[in-house]
Amino acid sequence: MTKLSQNNAPLFEALKKYVDENVYAFHVPGHKHGKGLEEFTEYVGKAIMNIDVNSMEDLDNLANPIGVIKDAHELAAQAFDADYAYFLINGTTSGIQAMIMAATEPGDKIIMPRNAHKSAFSALILAGVVPVYIYPEINEELDIALGIKAEQVKDAIITNPDAKAVLMLNPTYYGITSELKEIIELAHSYNMAVLCDEAHGSHFYFHPNMPPGGIKLGADISAMSIHKTGGSLTQSSLLISKGNRVEPLIIKSILNLTQSTSASYVLMASLDAARKQLATKGKEMLDKVIYLSKHAREEINKIKGIRAITQDDIKEPFLFDPTKLVINISRTGMTGYEIMRLLRTEYHVQLEMADLSNIMAIISLGDDIEAIDYLVKSLNELLQEKEGTNEIITGSIVRPEVIVAPRDAYYGRNRSVPLDMAAGEISAEMIMAYPPGIPMVCPGEKITKDLIDRVKMLKEQHCQLQGTEDPNIDHIKVLGHMYKV
Ligand SMILES: Cc1ncc(COP(=O)(O)O)c(C=O)c1O
Repeated sequence: MTKLSQNNAPLFEALKKYVDENVYAFHVPGHKHGKGLEEFTEYVGKAIMNIDVNSMEDLDNLANPIGVIKDAHELAAQAFDADYAYFLINGTTSGIQAMIMAATEPGDKIIMPRNAHKSAFSALILAGVVPVYIYPEINEELDIALGIKAEQVKDAIITNPDAKAVLMLNPTYYGITSELKEIIELAHSYNMAVLCDEAHGSHFYFHPNMPPGGIKLGADISAMSIHKTGGSLTQSSLLISKGNRVEPLIIKSILNLTQSTSASYVLMASLDAARKQLATKGKEMLDKVIYLSKHAREEINKIKGIRAITQDDIKEPFLFDPTKLVINISRTGMTGYEIMRLLRTEYHVQLEMADLSNIMAIISLGDDIEAIDYLVKSLNELLQEKEGTNEIITGSIVRPEVIVAPRDAYYGRNRSVPLDMAAGEISAEMIMAYPPGIPMVCPGEKITKDLIDRVKMLKEQHCQLQGTEDPNIDHIKVLGHMYKV
C-alpha cells in the first residue's frame, strides 16, 4: 500500500466542508445543527453541534466504509503499523467483544488473564467461549498484579492445546505489560491468535521509550481506547489488525452486529484528529508527558510515607508505563479510597482510580507542570493534615474457583439471595470495583466467605462497586439449588 500522509484527516476535513457549505439539514439528528437544543448548544458551542450529523454520501457510513471513513481507517492502520483499522464508537468494550467473537466460535477456549476487564468477561458470555485463566503474580508489598510470563502461557497451552486464542492486556490498568513478544511467538507456534486489550496502550505506538505496542510485536488484533491516552473523545476507540489469522472481513461483520447504525461523527472526527496528532506530533508530546511523569514521581517520593511506583518496583520482564502515576499509600493509615475522596472534596483534584493500597493519576497529552505541581502540593498538604488509623489492608486480587462456564451461569436458572447468605453458591453475576472494572467474581464462579467479607469491607470504604442487578450489592443472583457445592 502506498504511504499516506499522516497530515491529512479526511473525515474531519469532510465534516468541516459540510459545515462550510451551510447545508439545509433535513436529516437526523433532529436538533439540526443545535437549533433544536438551545441551552445545551449555547453551553457546548455551535461547532460541535454542526458536526453532529448522520451518514450521507460525502461523509461515508461506518457500517460499510467506502469513502472518507475508509480513508481515515487506512491512515489509522498505517499510523499503528497495522493492515486494517476500524473506528469504534462504543469504546474498547465493543472492540474486545468483537475480537473475541472473531477469533473463536461458541464452545471454543480462550486463554486469558483473570485480571482482565469486565468487557472480556462479557464477551465470554456473548460468544459462549470458555476461559482458561492465567493468574498473574502479585507484588504483595504494593498489592498490585504484575504481568503474565511466557512460561505461564506455555503451561496453559500445553494443557489446553485446543484453545483458539490468547488474550493479553498490554498494559494492565496499572500500566504493567506481560512477556508479550514471547507469548505471541508461542501462541502462534500453536496456531492460536493473539488478541491484545490495549485500552491503556494506544500511546505505546508513538514513543520509543514506551513499552512496545502489541501489533508491532506481532499480535493479530488489538482494541485500544484512543480516548484514554491518545487524545480523542470518550467512547471513541480503535480496533486494528494485522495478517489473516483473524479474518478482517469477519471482524467487520461482527462489528456490524453490535455497533450503532448511527455512529457519532463527533466521536469519529475526534479519532481522525487524534490519529493525525499522534502520528505527526505524538513523539514530541509524549516526550513532555514522560518528563512530567518523571517530575511528578521525584516530587511525590519526597513526601514521607508514600511512594510512586517505578520500573524498578515492577522488574523485567514486565515493563511499566511511566505515564501511570501509581502511588502506594499503604503506610499512611488511610485507604486509597479515602485519599481519593479527600483530594476531590478538599482540593478539587479528581484521580483516575484508587484501591485499598494505591491511588492512581493519569498523566497524559493534556497535562502541564502547573497541574502536576498542584497535585503534588495537594497530596503533601493532605497527608500532613490527616492522620489515618487503618491497619494496612491488602489483597485486592481474589482467585475464585470456576465451576460453570460464564455463559451457562449467566443464562442458567437463577435466584437472588442476600449476599450474606451466598457463601458456597455459584454466582450468576459479576461484582467489581469500578474503576478498574476487574471482576472479583464472575458468573460461574464459587462465592466464598472471603469474597463476601471483602465486598462488605469495600462497601464500608465507599468503593464504587457494581455488576449485580441490585444496585446496593446487598443481593446477588446465584444458580439454582442443584448447583450448590
Ligand atoms: C483494561 C481495560 N480494558 C478494556 C476497557 C474498556 O474500554 P472502554 O471504556 O473504552 O470501553 C477498559 C476500561 O476501563 C480497561 O481498563
